Amino acid sequence: MNTREGNELLANPEVVKGIGQKIDNHGSDEDNSPTLRVSYCDHIWSNLAGYRIFNIELSVRMGALHEVVWSLSGFELAGFDLTGEEFHLISRLVYEKFGINLGEQKRMLVIERLQKELRRGGFSSFKEYYDHVTQDTTGQALLTMIDRISTNHTFFFREKDHFDLLTAEILPKILQKLPGAGQNLRFWSAGCSSGEEPYTLAMTINEYLGPKINIIGVDILATDISVTALAKASRGVYADTETAQISSGLKNRYFMKSGDGTWAVKQSLKKMILFRRLNLMRQTYPFKNKFHVIFCRNVMIYFDVPTRTALLERFCACLEPGGYLFLGHSESLGRSSELLKYIKPAVYQKVVRG
Ligand SMILES: C[S@@+](CC[C@H](N)C(=O)[O-])C[C@H]1O[C@@H](n2cnc3c(N)ncnc32)[C@H](O)[C@@H]1O
Repeated sequence: MNTREGNELLANPEVVKGIGQKIDNHGSDEDNSPTLRVSYCDHIWSNLAGYRIFNIELSVRMGALHEVVWSLSGFELAGFDLTGEEFHLISRLVYEKFGINLGEQKRMLVIERLQKELRRGGFSSFKEYYDHVTQDTTGQALLTMIDRISTNHTFFFREKDHFDLLTAEILPKILQKLPGAGQNLRFWSAGCSSGEEPYTLAMTINEYLGPKINIIGVDILATDISVTALAKASRGVYADTETAQISSGLKNRYFMKSGDGTWAVKQSLKKMILFRRLNLMRQTYPFKNKFHVIFCRNVMIYFDVPTRTALLERFCACLEPGGYLFLGHSESLGRSSELLKYIKPAVYQKVVRG
């Protein structure tokens, strides 16, 4: 590396950050006068397992004499470059396996969310990481990757009007048609993230049924692809700030406050819900019985139109005749669909044929 390249490196704030002081460089290669210079900036291995290792030397040169007066070695976190080709490979894999559509605008998101995995695994590039994920026959690396990529944002009583509609109109209608003993109310929270949605459902149904909950069985299946989100959901422990949307009455009935200020879901609510990992991109779902209500809210926004259309068909195949589908408010189907009838914003009912 020559002096000019060394100087350019020092002009890079990323490199200077590790030095902690500005180095003034005087003199040039042609100049033979006593001079202080950065004579070389050696051994910079960019992106070695996500770290940049550098060694910078400051030397004094006078004629042929050349003495190192100061040197600094160290390492610092370096960002990984994601080439167009690498982004294409990763986004195609995520789309094919999970239906999630990572448009060009998600490039920074991919870098931010995956570079920790590259560092953790000691990979030197996204391509190397991609090869590892696709060659891992256990499927674990793929699960970890989607765990990082997927957006799990959720909260209790999100889009609250849906839960109000459930108690005001939908539950009474479903119960009217329930043939009686031995019949359970069956709900599916598809893309349940860390559990706030199915627990909200469980609280709402409990409040509505009151003591009748002991006669009418209620089963809530809650599924997601994210292992981390599901682990939090099954644990059912939430920080005080995460429970802000739950009224104090409901909180006291369905949660227990721990010494550290967190809130743990009571067993009576937990036992209504079965948490399972399930990829919605499966072509068939392994369910014995159909559902009265499916919630799949704020999940389809990540899918493209053909993926959404196919998913809606699969949901309809899993719904009881006249069953209900709740989507997120930004995922509305509009008012016309052959399989589903519009009920309220983002709420649809399976059309009964014949
Ligand atoms: C933004 S959260 C929505 C959570 C909740 N339904 C709500 O509305 O608050 C989206 C969830 O969908 C899940 N998801 C995305 N693609 C999926 C797929 N192919 N199969 C199953 N779950 C998926 C993500 O892991 C994430 O937890």
